[in-house]
Amino acid sequence: MLLDYQSILDTIHREVQPLLREGKVADYIPELSKVSPGRFGMAVYCLDGRTFSAGDADVKFSLQSITKLFALALAFSREGDVIWTRVGREPSGNPFNSLVQLEYERGIPRNPFINAGALVITDILATRFVQAEIAVLQFVRMLADEPAIDFDRIVAQSEQDTAHRNSAIAYFMKDFGNLHNPVASVIGSYCRQCSITMTCAELAKAGSFLAQHGTIPWSGMEILDASSAKRLNALMLTCGTYDAAGDFAYRVGLPAKSGVGGGILALMPGDASIAVWSPGLDATGNSLAGTYALERFTTLTARSIF
Ligand code: DON
Repeated sequence: MLLDYQSILDTIHREVQPLLREGKVADYIPELSKVSPGRFGMAVYCLDGRTFSAGDADVKFSLQSITKLFALALAFSREGDVIWTRVGREPSGNPFNSLVQLEYERGIPRNPFINAGALVITDILATRFVQAEIAVLQFVRMLADEPAIDFDRIVAQSEQDTAHRNSAIAYFMKDFGNLHNPVASVIGSYCRQCSITMTCAELAKAGSFLAQHGTIPWSGMEILDASSAKRLNALMLTCGTYDAAGDFAYRVGLPAKSGVGGGILALMPGDASIAVWSPGLDATGNSLAGTYALERFTTLTARSIF
């Protein structure tokens, strides 16, 4: 049944207004703190080609950890299951930038969506490609069919200047033999990758192949086979919103990946992909209004994976 997503998005846009100043904009990357907390955008990309949007759906924002999903998809499509010898597939139950598990798990990160795991994926891409972050950038440009997508070099530099914790994580893994390239170059690539900016409309389109079992809906190009796409969806559900993944699954019921820029990409497999952006974060680092918007979306549409 074709649903009128537009009236649902308009309802959600109205409902989130009181929440827009409740969250806290990330400031540990100084440049991110300059974004206005009152922003809200949402876009739906249906696999049949229909698109819907509300609010600031055409305003660019910093993808941050959402890029970890695209980096993982690229690494998984090229390297296959061998990546799982260097990174796990379990929820961490810890903040995204935590160091504690790495010590007793001997430098093998719990999953590819915490910072440690994403640094390993960057390292894998750095070995495979001339420049890891350029490979990720070209990949997302192709997925969104948008050659103008780019890094935000000011945000990248701001993160690199303050990347003490991520550098510590990277050195720690290097000591365990789980980082093959120089720490400084992996951190540089990772910070540039995280700085990629997109609009909600671009992000929903870029993620749509994961809702269509690994195949880009508008071009028919297979990025991942259906089984691999299922596996990435499962990882998003269990690990994509960090130690809030249980609560997110309870409230929203969709595989999703969030970022500290305030974006969330969520998937309705076989149906649509949804991007939402609101920069105010909750205590777990996920967009406060964005999570609420997705909760309302699955409630009002009565569609989720459950
Ligand atoms: O490494 C960092 O801390 C950021 N570049 C990305 C963190 C992030 O987006 C976590 N998301 N909720």
